[in-house]
Amino acid sequence: MRPITVSITGAAGNIGYALLPRIASGAVFGPDQPVTLKLLEIEPAMKALEGTAMELYDCAPPLLHDVVCTSDPEEAFGDAEAVFLVGAMPRGPGMERSDLLRANGPIFTGQGAAIAKAASQDVRVVVVGNPANTNCLIAIHAAKKHGMGPEHFTAMTRLDMNRATAQLAIKAKTQIRDVSHMIIWGNHSPTMVPDVTHARINGMPAAGVIGDDAWLKDAFSPTVRTRGKAIIDARGKSSAKSAAHAAIEHMRQLKVGTAPGTWTSIAVYSTGAHYDVPEGIVYSVPVTCPGDGSYRVVEGLSCSDEVKALMKASADELVSEREAVQDLLG
Ligand code: NAD
Ligand code: LMR
Repeated sequence: MRPITVSITGAAGNIGYALLPRIASGAVFGPDQPVTLKLLEIEPAMKALEGTAMELYDCAPPLLHDVVCTSDPEEAFGDAEAVFLVGAMPRGPGMERSDLLRANGPIFTGQGAAIAKAASQDVRVVVVGNPANTNCLIAIHAAKKHGMGPEHFTAMTRLDMNRATAQLAIKAKTQIRDVSHMIIWGNHSPTMVPDVTHARINGMPAAGVIGDDAWLKDAFSPTVRTRGKAIIDARGKSSAKSAAHAAIEHMRQLKVGTAPGTWTSIAVYSTGAHYDVPEGIVYSVPVTCPGDGSYRVVEGLSCSDEVKALMKASADELVSEREAVQDLLG
């Protein structure tokens, strides 16, 4: 079978360490699909990247076709069909993700342009580096100048969806596999909206099964919205294993598809056509994926006035972030 080229930036970092062996073992494209991994790092991290590649070979994954280590974005994205934009500074204690905007935003102008120039015209990109939604918007603007459309770029809120799904299962004393249809609206920030309105536990409305509205509002939502900070406080470093896993599931669902009757949450470029989300920001919505790299926003879901107000607050935050990086949008 022809190998698929997958590019990963920041490959020598924490998330990269958890991500590479799993992609090389078929977690995204399945157990029969060989992969060539193209790994991008900045110059000072090239030695560490070499070590990462050595360890990758030492796993001897049968699907690993080739590994390219480079600090040249166009070489890294050459012919890529899937790109994981991970390389960016993580926040430390006491910071919000948006504090990273000025440090990390510029990374995504050059990389967005390089993807448009060098990657496969079918490429699908997931932005993981924070603040993911607005970094994705920056990459979209840069790619657009080279003729690539926004539908190729998405940002990751799958980790938030997974966190929410697991919290519901724990509270309901049931299995994670019994929980479905969780939605994350908005920004990957504390304004995100973990919405249980349509979530189900064993096919029943989740809120009814939980039977504790106060817990949903005062414990569940804040836990999901601030879980990234809680992980940093506990580990001294930001999430890596769970972030890598979420990135894999995000890309797998784009490339292989969502199961019939289910959806996933992905931050996508808003055209202004859905749920009163303003045009021109990258906003998390429920989507279905047919498996050809495209996504369809799930339409017509009911939202309470309370959820609508929270959704608007998250959209307003993304509009402010967009204003703060106007110079990078060109
Ligand atoms: P890390 O510091 O361990 O690794 C980041 C790597 O990126 C480093 O090796 C660094 O050299 C590299 N890098 C920096 N600039 C680069 C560039 N221009 N090109 C290529 N590589 C570059 O950080 P990490 O823990 O792996 O996290 C990476 C990013 O992912 C952070 O911004 C973090 O906040 C974010 N993150 C997002 C989510 C999410 O849910 N969206 C979850 C976890 C972490
Ligand atoms: C997370 O949600 O774990 C990541 O975005 C890292 C962070 O800074 O919270």
